Amino acid sequence: MKIVFLGGGHITRALLAGLRDSGDHRFIAVHDRNADKLRRLQRDFGAVAEPDLRRAVCLADMLLVAVRPAGVHDLLAQIGRVERPTVAVSLAAGLPLRQLRHTLGPQARWARAMPSPVCREGRGLTAITCDRAMTARERNLVRGLFARLGTAVVIPEREFDVFSTAYSPSQGYYAVNALATAARKLGLNAKVARLAAAHALADAIQEWRASGASLEVLMQEAATPGGIAATVMAAKDRDGYPKIMERSLRAGIERAQQMRVRG
Ligand SMILES: NC(=O)c1ccc[n+]([C@@H]2O[C@H](COP(=O)([O-])OP(=O)(O)OC[C@H]3O[C@@H](n4cnc5c(N)ncnc54)[C@H](OP(=O)(O)O)[C@@H]3O)[C@@H](O)[C@H]2O)c1
Repeated sequence: MKIVFLGGGHITRALLAGLRDSGDHRFIAVHDRNADKLRRLQRDFGAVAEPDLRRAVCLADMLLVAVRPAGVHDLLAQIGRVERPTVAVSLAAGLPLRQLRHTLGPQARWARAMPSPVCREGRGLTAITCDRAMTARERNLVRGLFARLGTAVVIPEREFDVFSTAYSPSQGYYAVNALATAARKLGLNAKVARLAAAHALADAIQEWRASGASLEVLMQEAATPGGIAATVMAAKDRDGYPKIMERSLRAGIERAQQMRVRG
């Protein structure tokens, strides 16, 4: 199966690194309007650089659309129709299948996938949703590709914006930074503050995964009633942390909705 990426930016680079690292040495071509990016992808991952859009598309059994959401419709219009059966996967946040399924002609079968740069290390999580026209074989091809890069979950499209908003490594980076900044402000030296924040988050998740215990049980274990951790959690609840979290996700979902063009 020949895989072709349209767009050779951040996410394509991460996916290529993860695929090659997983031992996937299938034919992969990349089309991008920046010759230097194509050169680097060719040098680092043995991807075939194809600066001609139509030629790139003609190569593809599976086409991964990895340009920014605002550029997707122009790019697809430029392509027109594909001439042979093509599994087309859009990585673009926000753009629904109803706007994609009538593009590229009847030979294209559409899916959406939402991976993250953590796929680079083979520890990513990718949500996938497939258009109803996709066969079981085509669904397996899409799922199989992302399963090489970590966990792949199939979810209904109506959940896609929430997933895209909630699942981003930026959630973790932000949380580490906010915790470290607060600790530093209150007197901990900067280096140890970052170390403590990173351990607080990463160790909790590792322990949760390794132990198989429920979050509730682990929270109870780590927070003695009346102790420091319990006081900190109660202060977060009192000061509206859960509401802030919900409002921030709502803002992300609204942004995803704004990315849709009327269609
Ligand atoms: N980054 C992530 O973590 C992530 C995760 C999941 C999904 N996604 C989705 O993946 C897509 C790409 O994201 P990204 O972060 O990789 O963006 P990016 O770094 O900007 O990469 C997009 C690449 O496509 C090129 N490009 C844009 N329009 C083109 C066209 N018409 N012809 C040829 N090349 C074109 C861009 O060139 P220029 O630089 O010249 O514009 C750029 O090199 C987005 O839709 C995003 O929603 C991203």
